[in-house]
Amino acid sequence: MKKFKRYTVTSALPYANGPLHIGHIAGAYLPADTYVRYLRLRGEDVVYVGGSDEHGVAITLGARKAGVSPQEFVDKYHEMMKKTFQEFGISFDVYSRTSAKVHYDTAQEFFTNIYNKGILKEETSDQYYDEQEGIFLADRYIIGTCPNCKYENAYGDQCERCGTSLSPRELINPRSTVSGQPPVLRQTKHWYFPLDEYESWLREWLLEGHKDDWKTNVYGQCKSWLDQGLQPRSITRDLDWGVPVPLPDAKGKVLYVWFDAPIGYISATKELLPNDWEKYWKDPDTRLIHFIGKDNIVFHCIIFPAMLKAAGDYILPDNVPANEFLNLEGDKLSTSRNYAVWLHEYLQELPGRRDELRYVLTSISPETKDADFTWKDYQQKVNSELVAILGNLVNRVMVLTWKYFDGVVPNAPQLTESSDARAGINRAKEQTAAQFNESINEMINALDTFLFREAQFHMMNLARAGNRFLADTQPWKLAATDKDAVASILSFSLNLCGNIALACEPFLPDGAAAIRRQLNNELSDQRSTFWKERRLVDTITGGHKLNKAELLYRNVEDADIERQIEKLKKAREAKAAGTPSDVKPLKSQVTIDDFAKLDIRIGTVLQAEKVEKSDKLLKLLVDTGIDRRTILSGIARHYKPEDLIGKQVTLIANLAPRRMMGIESKGMILMAEDKDGKLQLLIPSEPVNPGSTVS
Ligand code: 2FM
Ligand code: ZN
Repeated sequence: MKKFKRYTVTSALPYANGPLHIGHIAGAYLPADTYVRYLRLRGEDVVYVGGSDEHGVAITLGARKAGVSPQEFVDKYHEMMKKTFQEFGISFDVYSRTSAKVHYDTAQEFFTNIYNKGILKEETSDQYYDEQEGIFLADRYIIGTCPNCKYENAYGDQCERCGTSLSPRELINPRSTVSGQPPVLRQTKHWYFPLDEYESWLREWLLEGHKDDWKTNVYGQCKSWLDQGLQPRSITRDLDWGVPVPLPDAKGKVLYVWFDAPIGYISATKELLPNDWEKYWKDPDTRLIHFIGKDNIVFHCIIFPAMLKAAGDYILPDNVPANEFLNLEGDKLSTSRNYAVWLHEYLQELPGRRDELRYVLTSISPETKDADFTWKDYQQKVNSELVAILGNLVNRVMVLTWKYFDGVVPNAPQLTESSDARAGINRAKEQTAAQFNESINEMINALDTFLFREAQFHMMNLARAGNRFLADTQPWKLAATDKDAVASILSFSLNLCGNIALACEPFLPDGAAAIRRQLNNELSDQRSTFWKERRLVDTITGGHKLNKAELLYRNVEDADIERQIEKLKKAREAKAAGTPSDVKPLKSQVTIDDFAKLDIRIGTVLQAEKVEKSDKLLKLLVDTGIDRRTILSGIARHYKPEDLIGKQVTLIANLAPRRMMGIESKGMILMAEDKDGKLQLLIPSEPVNPGSTVS
């Protein structure tokens, strides 16, 4: 295999339109993170690039539904995803975003470059238009019946039921997803990338060049695309959100999200290394690897490579290890149905258990076919593998060393074979060392070929071999009679633990750190020998003082997973009952007497102004019919003060006064809050007298 000087590793840029769930993590982030951790340990020069995909209809429709601007919408989810990735320990070197200036510049330069080369074709054609909303209807702005499977809600770019890639004009009974109205046709000009002209080059580069090294699921999908024949693809859209097309006659047009998003990998690298990014994208000695989910294969294996080829001096992906999908308790994960294990909730509800989720997701990694995550399986794998095999080995070795040698690594002279037991110990050491060398090799071979599930299995085999060694040599039985033999067993076992700390680092970074902590050894000198020479290395020396033993992993209790299973059951029930599952859960019951204590009335806003130093609060003067009073309300992000004057509002008039920002608020304005946090005043449908009661 070619020897590369450096690596550029990317994970698909997630749309900034919702929180991350375990399906995202298992698909494109955890495998990439494991891989880059491995490369870094081997001492390779690597950049690991990620960021949020902030354009396209997924964003504009989401923002529209939430009643906020696209920028506000992506700001919220970009920050949330960035934080969650960081808290979970996905070790991006840079996590950028496609609304960043560096990305606008890079995407526009990319377009201009291929435009100036005369590669793009300009074409005016009839496209669907929503007359009521005044917008062209591309991609997900339009739905209709799929010509292939007759599914009634197929999108303008793809049918989610049968997977067929579509264009809006192919839909039967098309209708706008914004107004629900049937569209009309209107002429509009767009720029097309002539993908068809790259077909024979793609056949050679991909079908011949990567027949043996790309995963069969990836290769197969690409082949079937190429066999169907490629068509020119429009790379611009009529939208007011996105990277503007950098041409004078392109007002109101932006780059298509799937044109600008992969360029996001390049702009993120530029953000990280403004002066040095080019060698990660243009030097043929750099190996480019894209980690993605299977729904992104065509964009990364066909369209983006053709774009890079057209641009001229870029390297191409050397591998695209795409994963299949992850299901949850036998059902499809679904953001809109709230049927998911959300990563930020996992981190909160099962704190200190990052490795556990990494371990389980890698052990069921959907590398060749769809996989299923279940909480029972999670519990079983944590308890009977992480705790009972890995944690148990390290703990036993540490506890025994403290017991017999007061926490100091014993000096272990060559064991003369003066007894059967001693001969057995020497034999077991030899066998265990051989098993370690074999498993280390198999683990690294699997990592090199993106088989993370298998790699992790070989890593755990190290712990299995360690436990077997202890069971075979039984040092506790020799403590009274042969201290040298015990010293020999334990110093060897401590070294096994040191090697396991090295081996498990890409998979279980927290566990690796905890073993190093107990061994009181950072192992920095041994890392690269272990990973480069692929063998058992010396990690301990006699006389070295260890730290106290600590438990690597704790059992997952039944109650922990029952709570999670219950949550999923509720999401399923909400779906069955037709209740949107992003509704907050019902509060506990109150009596009519409880309710009667509240004095709810309609008031009229007389004055409204911003509260200094607060971006949330407005100070309102309200005529309640009884008095005129000041009420503070957290609606500054949703209403302008001047728009509130004269409006009727619903308020709780007998709430105990409260001071906020030095101002006393006498009451509370009631508001409706939707799942995205958008607030709306509750206004009577017809004006009423101030002071009218609500019951
Ligand atoms: O499918 C998705 O979530 C896309 N946002 C992936 C984009 S990957 C890359 F091209 F940026
Ligand atoms: Zn279909």
